[in-house]
Amino acid sequence: MVVLVVGGGGREHALAWALARSPRVERVLVAPGNGGTAGGKLRAVPGDGDLVALARAEGVALVVIGPEAPLADGLADAFRAAGLPCFGPGAAAARLEASKAYAKDFMNRHGIPTAAHRTFEDAARALAWLAEAPWPVVVKASGLAAGKGVVVPDDRAGAEAAVRDLFGGRYGDAGRTVVLEERLTGPEVSILALCDGQRFALLPPAQDHKRLLDGDRGPNTGGMGAIAPSPLATEAVLAQAADLVARTLAGLAAEGTPFVGCLFVGLMLTPAGPRVLEYNCRFGDPETQVVLPLLDADLAAVLADCCAGRLDPRDVRWRAGAAATVVAAAPGYPDAPEKGSVIMGMDAASSCEGVTVFHAGTRLDGGVLRTAGGRVLAVTGVGPDGPTALRRAYAGLHHIEFPGLQARRDVGGAAWG
Ligand code: AMP
Ligand code: GLY
Repeated sequence: MVVLVVGGGGREHALAWALARSPRVERVLVAPGNGGTAGGKLRAVPGDGDLVALARAEGVALVVIGPEAPLADGLADAFRAAGLPCFGPGAAAARLEASKAYAKDFMNRHGIPTAAHRTFEDAARALAWLAEAPWPVVVKASGLAAGKGVVVPDDRAGAEAAVRDLFGGRYGDAGRTVVLEERLTGPEVSILALCDGQRFALLPPAQDHKRLLDGDRGPNTGGMGAIAPSPLATEAVLAQAADLVARTLAGLAAEGTPFVGCLFVGLMLTPAGPRVLEYNCRFGDPETQVVLPLLDADLAAVLADCCAGRLDPRDVRWRAGAAATVVAAAPGYPDAPEKGSVIMGMDAASSCEGVTVFHAGTRLDGGVLRTAGGRVLAVTGVGPDGPTALRRAYAGLHHIEFPGLQARRDVGGAAWG
């Protein structure tokens, strides 16, 4: 079987790596891939051409789409229309992520607990409401803003500035509709589920580290590290999470937009119980890099079953133990990452016990590996328990060198320190 993975980040390298472990997979094409998606069964292919035509020409039997933007643009619909099995929702179901206004209304229609909210189409009304609103609130661009469309302001003036910014075009069309919502408190857990339109299998619950700096300080990023399984997700929380996923899938199916793909529920564990902060219509990054090394199943077979609408959740087994991922980011990330530096220490890091190094923003330049993006590498350690997994991830990271490398030193500390 030839598999096509669409995307070029750490998530896509982890997907390609896990798919390549399947004995039935002969080749994994990654469009456009990165410096890690070459060699063995992996091959980078151009990401900017006609991917449906490429998939046909290469005899692809399974497509897996990583990022949200092509899903929102209907790439999964295009593959399915061409008769190619594709793991990823169509544009209609991808609105769960692409339109926060749609997602909030969907949750309210289906009794899924989430923060109270109001949706606005113009600045004057939003500002008028804000002046009277119960405080505190969170300000969100409704559309896709590359993970930057959420502002958690310190005071009303900050909230007003954020509203003006969004309606002023800061995120283009993404900010033409703005969601103002009640600010909740509590730790966050990433719940990911492999879905076949009706049935689903939960992945081990993960915990992301979104802030750049230790102690959850500094700017928000795509994610600087992750652990799994998160000890915050008790049996009771997991049962509630499974119920939320089930109700989401049932709601989507009932509305004629069944969801095939990875449903990612961002859950906040508030004092009043779990609340859905957001949906993503795809695998998480770096959640995928922390979770897939724990998989004890044939990922290609499982995803193909999802595409065929015949997932057997019992086929999705996980190893006992735990995993931790630490991201090595370029200097200047997240605002203006510097690119082009030589990366050293890959072999030494990869040969550490229990360590896998996933590439994100890297490229091969005449056999030399260079930085090519904000998040450069994700170093994952797996072990029999959390502290061992963490120790292994950091032992691997210790060997990686490039100028100005940024990494958090406290990943997993609160859970497993
Ligand atoms: P989202 O993209 O909606 O997940 O928002 C990004 C981050 O903003 C979340 O991971 C939370 O840390 C924070 N956030 C979003 N919504 C809320 C909320 N209603 N209350 C508190 N924090 C929030
Ligand atoms: N790590 C959070 C995300 O993938 O959106």
